[in-house]
Amino acid sequence: MSVRVAILISGSGSNMVALAQSMQGDHPARPCLVLSNRPDAAGLGRAQDMGIPTAVVDHRPFKGDRPGFEAALRAEIDKARPDLIALAGFMRVLTADFVRPYAGRILNIHPSLLPKYKGLDTHTRAIAAGDTEAGCTVHEVTPALDDGPILGQARVPVLRGDTAETLAARILPMEHQLYPLVLRRVAEGNRAPIMLP
Ligand code: GAR
Repeated sequence: MSVRVAILISGSGSNMVALAQSMQGDHPARPCLVLSNRPDAAGLGRAQDMGIPTAVVDHRPFKGDRPGFEAALRAEIDKARPDLIALAGFMRVLTADFVRPYAGRILNIHPSLLPKYKGLDTHTRAIAAGDTEAGCTVHEVTPALDDGPILGQARVPVLRGDTAETLAARILPMEHQLYPLVLRRVAEGNRAPIMLP
């Protein structure tokens, strides 16, 4: 029996594509759902093109009602019976009430070398701090934002003249390498952190 993976997105879904494309052949996992909180997320079409079931739980009608949004999210996710949930550019904060029932089964990719730069604008903050390296982290999701056990990291240099855009463009291909690697290891039961390169 394959490990079933639900992938949550909000945007272009390039990490989702990297994850979905990796789950083939002797890979122990298969994608069972791509869910977006944005109906216009480009990643939804890319998932459909790959034959993966999709769902949308638009957060906007739930303005001021986070428990309602999370209940709707949970209902859609649970229909797909995932073993693992991979957040891949999913840009909503999830509360402890959401995370707890899936403890240890939610992964996230974050575009910084955690514990540095939790939250938003990671690249701008790394450049402003004068960091000479930046990167991305895959971690287990716990109720505290961008704080769970680190499962893998990939590093890139910060170059003179970098902007948030050029740095993001250098990190994204590393995200596409790191996340599938970590997902496979986790699906195989290996949570020892892996460092790239
Ligand atoms: C990625 O860079 C991911 O690390 C980041 O959003 C981007 C999504 O791109 N995630 C976060 O900032 C989470 N806090 P994608 O939709 O092309 O995968």
